[in-house]
Amino acid sequence: MSLTDATLKEKYPAKAHCRRVAKFLTDAGFPHDGVIYLEAQKTHMVEDDDQAMHFRQRRYFFYLSGCKLPDAYITYNIPQDILTLFIPPIDPDDVIWSGLPESKEEALRKYDVDHVLYTNEVNATLAAYGPSKSTTVYAIPEQVSDHITFLAFKAVEFSPLKTAIDECRVVKDSYEIALIRKANEISTIAHVAAAKAVRTATNEQELMGAFVGTCISHGAHEQAYHSICASGTSCSTLHYIRNDQPLKERLNILLDAGAEYECYCADITRTFPVSGTFTPESQTIYDIVDEMQSSCFKLLRGGVRWEDVHENAHRVAIKGLKKAGILIGDEQEIFDKRVSVAFMPHGLGHYLGMDTHDTGGHANYEDPDQMFKYLRVRGQVPAGAVITVEPGIYFCEFILNPALEDPEFNKYVDKAVLNKYWTVGGVRIEDDVHILEEGYENLTNTPKL
Ligand code: GLY
Ligand code: MN
Repeated sequence: MSLTDATLKEKYPAKAHCRRVAKFLTDAGFPHDGVIYLEAQKTHMVEDDDQAMHFRQRRYFFYLSGCKLPDAYITYNIPQDILTLFIPPIDPDDVIWSGLPESKEEALRKYDVDHVLYTNEVNATLAAYGPSKSTTVYAIPEQVSDHITFLAFKAVEFSPLKTAIDECRVVKDSYEIALIRKANEISTIAHVAAAKAVRTATNEQELMGAFVGTCISHGAHEQAYHSICASGTSCSTLHYIRNDQPLKERLNILLDAGAEYECYCADITRTFPVSGTFTPESQTIYDIVDEMQSSCFKLLRGGVRWEDVHENAHRVAIKGLKKAGILIGDEQEIFDKRVSVAFMPHGLGHYLGMDTHDTGGHANYEDPDQMFKYLRVRGQVPAGAVITVEPGIYFCEFILNPALEDPEFNKYVDKAVLNKYWTVGGVRIEDDVHILEEGYENLTNTPKL
């Protein structure tokens, strides 16, 4: 059995996460004698139909419970260090349609919790945790059902809990790393299957079918995000979702797809030629992006400033685009004028965890500096974080054509050379890395060209 699978045989470390969040709260000056209260995502019915909508567990709830059941609740008593999970009671009518739900005994064996009760016992439990034992209940605004009562507590704190969990989620423990690694392992098998499917496929949708089908066959029933199966000039659309175009006469495929495994994500991009061989122009751009990524890898370690790594990607891109003859002029001037942003409009990467764009990155989408506007992580990246490294170069007519109207941009571009590159579309290469005190560990082993 692999180390990953052996780790995942253990329980999801919900209690450790509760303690970590409680410490964050008390370090921020909030009372220690409190109770954390969270609700799972509810079952929602499809409008005008008798089916439940597709279910996705609330990440805040999962982080502190490891439980994917809908309509459940938890309380975590901070001073007593007691985590209680409340699961829906057995509904005999529903058993006929859905089979037996998880029992209390099964839940106690499966989850890292101290007690399992039924959901009709939540209010009584909260009341018992009232004034003599706890002064404060911590909850997330808009995520407390109408029938829940906090009357027994002196104070209800709605402000710090969400932020506390968001920040705690940045640094992953070994169990979370194993989950992300597993999501990557399955995604790699699926990427290879999709790349193989290109040999006979006639339409983008066959790649999506190969990817998603392979994930499900290997135990990942959910996708981390909507796959991007782009071909030709569509490779320049960052979040292309149509995935329905014929592959005929298209040069390249950009496949950005990742499985979700037990609520944890992979996010992987590979770009490759439809024919099996890149044209010289595609190869030139692929080599630049590859160099952008490997050069950025060398800077990774605990505490690295993400803006510095992102800037480095731009500097490598500028050097490469100059060598290709697409850009002309002084490299520093091109960098200072933000010319390369038109070729790589997105940020170098984002935190990855239970969400594909995970919490705690402190993006500043209002940043007037175009180079950093879409950078989803700002400031220092701590050891233990998982972050994507996803440089790209795109030939997007919606960005480049308006930019070329501006003489201050235009003077740095050789249009005759640029015109040879439109059909490349775009190249992105994306891996998921675990930041270590000294260096990093690449969690993505999807083959590269
Ligand atoms: N994989 C899509 C993104 O990172 O936005
Ligand atoms: Mn990504």
